[in-house]
Amino acid sequence: WKTLDDMDLDGKRVLVRVDVNVPVEDGRVTDTTRIDRIVPTIKDIQSAGGIPILLAHFDRPKGKVVPEMSLGQIVPALSQALGQDVTFIDGDYGDRVGKLAPGDVALLENTRFNPGEEKNDAGFAKRLASLGDIYVNDAFSAAHRAHSSTEAIAHLLPACAGRLMAEELHALERALGNPARPLMAVVGGAKVSTKIDLLANLVRKVNHLVIGGGMANTFLAALGHDVGKSLAEHDMTDTARDILAKADEVGCEILLPHDVVVAREFKAGAASEVVPADACPADAMILDTGPDSVERIGKAMSNCKTLIWNGPLGAFEIAPFDTATNQAARMAADRTKAGKLVSVAGGGDTVAALNKAEAADDFTYISSAGGAFLEWMEGKTLPGVAALGG
Ligand code: 3PG
Repeated sequence: WKTLDDMDLDGKRVLVRVDVNVPVEDGRVTDTTRIDRIVPTIKDIQSAGGIPILLAHFDRPKGKVVPEMSLGQIVPALSQALGQDVTFIDGDYGDRVGKLAPGDVALLENTRFNPGEEKNDAGFAKRLASLGDIYVNDAFSAAHRAHSSTEAIAHLLPACAGRLMAEELHALERALGNPARPLMAVVGGAKVSTKIDLLANLVRKVNHLVIGGGMANTFLAALGHDVGKSLAEHDMTDTARDILAKADEVGCEILLPHDVVVAREFKAGAASEVVPADACPADAMILDTGPDSVERIGKAMSNCKTLIWNGPLGAFEIAPFDTATNQAARMAADRTKAGKLVSVAGGGDTVAALNKAEAADDFTYISSAGGAFLEWMEGKTLPGVAALGG
């Protein structure tokens, strides 16, 4: 794929697909991370003489105009991040886009208000493409969607990756495509069922696979342990056994908890105890990975050169069940700071968990993506990336 440096942007209208699908409460943006991370692309286009015209979705309006999902509510935060007024264009895009001048930045209304967008409709893509001369995709986090503004449009104009897209692809390549080894993956989260493809892909690629969170309980059940009242998917135990067998076959070490933190209730400050992983009392639930297991994770990590992390190791939202996540995240952060580890994290709850552990800032790279990061970890081709030429 090409980057902004390969394009002649001078005097051009540059359609930039961004992801500003950010949390909003009462019409105000509560986390500007995704907005802040598209600023370099927009500034670089302006410096090269181009006029950035931003295309983006917000939420899931399903092809209808839903006023609460208007991108208008993002404009103040975007203007603040850019240090200039952003022209918001709703209704008929064409007219107002024609009046933009060098120095301007425009944001078009939610592309998902158009029923063609999610169908990757060629007509809608053509209409969008007619508004610009060049297409830049800077939305890695929406690249798992084959939509008119992420896929079809890339075939209609000279196309390239924006700065954030390029950064994401380089970081992911370094973490899983062509990593320095040994390579460790940490995968947590509630359910095995949502991460089967991911686990199946990882056992073939990584040297050590740490499994934590609710999904570890399903593996413990698959090993014949009684998991009491723990969250576990008992219909997934065959799948869990298949994954363990595959890991064995290819020489991937799976690190499951061998001690666990259990409690009778899931609430802040609930009385908890550490027990062996095969000794969860019948009336208790497993809510975190135990201290010996964290130590084992640390030992394995200390031999590793690369780490990829998705999902918390326990019920991190409530103390003290955030302990394993916090400790393992801090170990990764410290080794990264010492220059001994390349650490890449992304997807869903991961960033919140690493932020809570005060570890995120020290990781080598934190992806801005949720679902796209997972699909990429599953080894899938992302349509928005493929459309840029792979
Ligand atoms: C995200 O927030 O992960 C992206 O913006 C994609 O959103 P979607 O899951 O609604 O397609």
